[in-house]
Amino acid sequence: MQNDEWRMRVYLTRFMTTEILPTDLPQEFKSAVDAAVRLLAAGEVVALPTETVYGLAADALNAEAVAKIFEAKERPTFDPLIVHLPHKKDLDTVAEVPETIAPVVKKLVERFWPGPLTIVLPKKACVPDLVTAGQPTVAVRASKDLVFTRVIRTFGKPLAAPSANRFGSISPTSANAVKAELDGVIPLILDGGACHFGLESTIIKIEPAAPKPLITILRPGPITPDDLKVFGRVQLVNKKSRNAPEVPGQLESHYAPRTPLRILDRPSDFIPEAGKKYALLSYRGEIADGYLDRHEWSAVHVLSPGKGKAPEAAVRFFFALRQLDNSGVDEIIAEPIPERGIGIAIMDRLRRAAVVK
Ligand code: TXA
Ligand code: MG
Repeated sequence: MQNDEWRMRVYLTRFMTTEILPTDLPQEFKSAVDAAVRLLAAGEVVALPTETVYGLAADALNAEAVAKIFEAKERPTFDPLIVHLPHKKDLDTVAEVPETIAPVVKKLVERFWPGPLTIVLPKKACVPDLVTAGQPTVAVRASKDLVFTRVIRTFGKPLAAPSANRFGSISPTSANAVKAELDGVIPLILDGGACHFGLESTIIKIEPAAPKPLITILRPGPITPDDLKVFGRVQLVNKKSRNAPEVPGQLESHYAPRTPLRILDRPSDFIPEAGKKYALLSYRGEIADGYLDRHEWSAVHVLSPGKGKAPEAAVRFFFALRQLDNSGVDEIIAEPIPERGIGIAIMDRLRRAAVVK
């Protein structure tokens, strides 16, 4: 593309009006879905709710449409996208399932799809290289969100959809959060309310091994190691290999607020600097945990008041992070969360949010 032409394109995409359409009433639902499908069919991008986070969707098999996702998110093209399927039976339209792992893939798909599990498999030729960042594999899932499902089934083809935020920023779990991220650069957001899980899907790859297949978790998420262990030997990808080409998007710094964030393992580690304002991201909001009373916090968000439940904390996590980021403090202090179940995924996101860029 010529330079001028490119500049004009950016200018045009930057100044569009971003509409939010509700989906609560049957009539609203239908017209919102129709509007989304019309745009997708015209090669445009649309933000849609999923059960994990909001996604920015485009026709996965149309490279020009997919290019608009990268443009809107300002996402580097080395970071591949997840392909969403209309139905789980459509898996072989975009991916090859090697015979050596076919039985375990079948079981995982039967158990977890539609749902928050993404499987990395060899790609079929119809998937544009832009989607997979030139890699021979494609990451695939099927969402169970009602609005997303209706849109993709009416559209009738796979949709590429990364989280609907600017690259590296906090993932959106509501239509308003998408608007805060991408206002003026995308035409439409369907409002399906708050996301059910609040954290991105678990991403796995599978290798044949005896006596059980090896399941490597490339990104922890709502489907936990415990959920997966009946299907094979489960390992979490180690920190060092996170920046390897195999997991290009799992960069060390990600999901990051603009405000610096620090995880404090012990409340006594907190030594405030004079004149600085601090916010607290608390897990249970209990005085006994030692953080709440430690300081006159300028803002506090409690992820799961009382006993502390990791799934509840997950739902609130990105919302709370976004609120604290907008609270005008100099630093966000975060309490660690027990690394069990979905708590593993919350701590993964928190650590990446805390990395100094
Ligand atoms: O829950 C989700 O997965 C959400 C919703 C919208 O579906 N999507 C999402 O997409 O989180 P995104 O683009 O924000 O994160 C996708 C991650 C990236 O870290 C990317 O590097 C990784 O998936 N990925 C994509 N294709 C891959 C592949 N072939 N091999 C390894 N990792 C891949
Ligand atoms: Mg993302």
